[in-house]
Amino acid sequence: MIRLFVALDLPGSVRDRLASLCNGIPEVRWIDPQNMHLTLRFVGEVDEPILPEIDAALSAIRYPGFRLALSGVDIFGDRRRARNLWAGVLPSEDLTALQSKVESTLSRVGLVAESRKFHPHITLSRLKGMKVDRLVGYLEANAAFMTEEFSIGAFVLYSSRLSRNGATYTPKATYPLDSA
Ligand code: 2AM
Repeated sequence: MIRLFVALDLPGSVRDRLASLCNGIPEVRWIDPQNMHLTLRFVGEVDEPILPEIDAALSAIRYPGFRLALSGVDIFGDRRRARNLWAGVLPSEDLTALQSKVESTLSRVGLVAESRKFHPHITLSRLKGMKVDRLVGYLEANAAFMTEEFSIGAFVLYSSRLSRNGATYTPKATYPLDSA
């Protein structure tokens, strides 16, 4: 079995900005900015022989490159137990359209459709149920986080290997978007 997901990579300048968000909450383990990405579709564990089929289907996606900007920080979870601290993305019709193309393409390959609504984000830390009280100051201090627009020219199929030291992500294939 192989664990897969489809994501957008971020330029170095954006990773640098995200790295600047990775401090200010005691005892939090931050994601290494080199591992940060915007997930379009988590696939999960599949049998390795299906990989060429997934690759062929993703290769057939045609979509123009576009621009994105990141904005704000927030959490997933509830008021008492935060699960995930993340940076947000300015609403983008292109991002939504590309994500739904990836989703429908993978459904046609036979992967079960994702039931949760797509909520684009870049995870900064997995918080394991931290009390939100401990995050309020950080969320307020970084509420105005915003990047310049940057170009998205490709999407990437990643494999993920889980270990005690966290996940290792390996790009399996990169799919260029159409140039303008
Ligand atoms: P997250 O950052 O919000 O945890 C690789 O695990 C990527 O797939 C991560 O970006 C992760 O999102 C995303 N993902 C989405 N659904 C997932 C799930 N059920 N299990 C693990 N990762 C998931």
